[in-house]
Amino acid sequence: MKAVAVFPGKAGSAHLAELSRPKISDVPGGRGVRVEVLRVGVDGTDREINDADYGEAPAGSPFLVLGHESLGRVVEVGPNVTELQPGDLAVAMVRRPGTSVYDAIGMQDFTTDDAYFERGISRLHGFLTEEYVDSADWIVKLPSTLSKVGVLLEPMTVVEKGIGQAFEAQRRLRVWRPRRAAVLGAGTIGLMATLVLRLRGLAVDTFALSPRPNTNATLVEATGARYVCGQDRNVVQAAEAEGGYDLVFECSGFSPLVFDGMRALAKNGVLVLSSITGGERKVDVPSDAINQSFVLGNKLMLGTVNAGRGDFEQGVRDLVQSEAAYPGWLEQLLTHPVRGLENWPMLFEALNGKKGVIKAFLEVCPS
Ligand code: BGC
Ligand code: ZN
Repeated sequence: MKAVAVFPGKAGSAHLAELSRPKISDVPGGRGVRVEVLRVGVDGTDREINDADYGEAPAGSPFLVLGHESLGRVVEVGPNVTELQPGDLAVAMVRRPGTSVYDAIGMQDFTTDDAYFERGISRLHGFLTEEYVDSADWIVKLPSTLSKVGVLLEPMTVVEKGIGQAFEAQRRLRVWRPRRAAVLGAGTIGLMATLVLRLRGLAVDTFALSPRPNTNATLVEATGARYVCGQDRNVVQAAEAEGGYDLVFECSGFSPLVFDGMRALAKNGVLVLSSITGGERKVDVPSDAINQSFVLGNKLMLGTVNAGRGDFEQGVRDLVQSEAAYPGWLEQLLTHPVRGLENWPMLFEALNGKKGVIKAFLEVCPS
């Protein structure tokens, strides 16, 4: 079967590869699930892998099959699978266990191993192909009502983990009741963070570069959040004018904003960092003032990557809730469909700065 693959370390090496069809017996213990791939979303990670800045092939393979944002339909299950059946809509988690104690208890998203295993990213083939087989342990079932937008679950889980961790950590405060949140960045992750924080009932200000009007601003405002163009007012100025934020979610991809996020926190506030910034940027910051406000204000900053099973399950619930609260909103994120694996180059066109792209995705089996 066909698959979109790269030679990791070789820039611009994306190509159509030939892959043998996986068998359900490839997974031990009768726990195998065979899934027909319907849609696969792409993001900055896929672009970085094709730019040879990131990514690793599985041991013994010259290439790595791309694709970690999947949506598929179960076609066959092993004898010891009770939680899924043929016909179910399914999304596979991305990371698989390594060797650390966290991996051993199903928390591989918190692994301390330096070498980690992520499908479509690191040491394991991804989902930009026709079918995959995996253990039911790593597959999440979706209701059939999510057949269009379910491909957004994986990026949604990145947000769910970050926000879930913020609430988990803030249990230190016993009575933490966040009211105001800032989201730094209005790309796919920023839009989804805005959505989830709105579903949790917070007042949200989402900061981005582009002046209004633009599609992302319209989507932010459709959730009842405020879209703030950073050129008019940055997050530090907003906090000075209207008070600090209880929760700041940084997902702009621009690391200097981390320090603005620190400066914009309210007392007892929490800053969540989710941008993967591979560069070597350096900035001058008011370190005494930032440190003092963190100390005197009992503030917290946490980094987050990947997502666990609970985050996937929360993501499913929030996708469903979003469809009820803001009907059609999620579908508007799916701006750039590409039909057929052989048309993969269009995915990279969309990823390389094409205007108006929120989410580009491949439709493997056009419906
Ligand atoms: C993926 C995560 C992954 C991270 C680091 C992101 O694009 O969505 O699942 O953990 O990259 O590889
Ligand atoms: Zn991703």
